[in-house]
Amino acid sequence: MANRKFVTKNHIVEGLKEVGIQAGDIVMVHTSLSAFGFVCGGAQVVIEALLEVVGNEGTIIMPTQSWKNMDPEAGVHWEEPKEWWQDIRDNWPAYDKYLTPTNTMGAVAELFRTLPGSERSDHPVRSVAAWGKLAKYFTENHDLVDIFGENSPVGKLYQQDGKVLLLGVDYDKNTSIHLADVRADYPGKTTETVHCAVKENGERKWIGFETLLVDGEDFVDIGKAFEEKYEIVKTTIGDATVRVMNQRQLVDFATEWIEKNRNR
Ligand SMILES: CC(C)(COP(=O)(O)OP(=O)(O)OC[C@H]1O[C@@H](n2cnc3c(N)ncnc32)[C@H](O)[C@@H]1OP(=O)(O)O)[C@@H](O)C(=O)NCCC(=O)NCCS
Repeated sequence: MANRKFVTKNHIVEGLKEVGIQAGDIVMVHTSLSAFGFVCGGAQVVIEALLEVVGNEGTIIMPTQSWKNMDPEAGVHWEEPKEWWQDIRDNWPAYDKYLTPTNTMGAVAELFRTLPGSERSDHPVRSVAAWGKLAKYFTENHDLVDIFGENSPVGKLYQQDGKVLLLGVDYDKNTSIHLADVRADYPGKTTETVHCAVKENGERKWIGFETLLVDGEDFVDIGKAFEEKYEIVKTTIGDATVRVMNQRQLVDFATEWIEKNRNR
């Protein structure tokens, strides 16, 4: 007897409908493929199920971050010896939204960015991809500095009153809470300098920019407190816990929570 669940596209479609995902929805999706069990068809059928349920009037957004494109000093090349760090800085390729792979965003997001008709934002480190009616809107003008702010993809999700869908992952992967980081006041609020490789006028350049320092360390606590206050729609698909939430409600709650509880 297998110790994993056998999951088909139909199971995913039914599960998505059960948590209230419907035609025309605007949804940011965070996924762990292995959390389902065995998905018959893998990432492809997760994407097909999502597209089928939201339809042509809907919009799907996924983080497609490429954070390996940062200075080794930031800890992103922990496997490599320090004596290579300067060579990495000198040689890491410039972000190319058509080519650069995602880093730990999951097999579903990695495939989703290649879906015909999908768009990807120009952020060299913290991009998102989107498909559907508002794909262009969600991916254009992703500001280099204001990664998670009002005009960023998560800020736009707030403006559009969209949903967040967690497929087998917890709140530590819920990127929308970074909008609350931007909005809230807390004692340790500060910026950091990020360095990365970009293409400018056809030439690779190693640039630096100042942006809000975020870490997501209390996001699971925020999620727990959020679910104590609000009834979140949940189900399971295979072995994966699936949660859907209204992003505005989450961000408003998280902003207040951070102001009350984050002491660092
Ligand atoms: C990091 C993360 C992607 C890891 O999840 P995961 O399930 O281990 O990995 P993926 O989703 O990439 O799925 C691939 C894994 O699924 C398993 N797998 C492969 N085929 C499969 C199938 N048909 N069915 C089920 N699982 C399968 C394998 O273990 C595979 O790992 P491998 O390639 O190393 O062998 C996940 O925890 C996560 O964080 N997802 C959200 C990312 C996000 O949105 N982040 C927001 C910014 S912080």
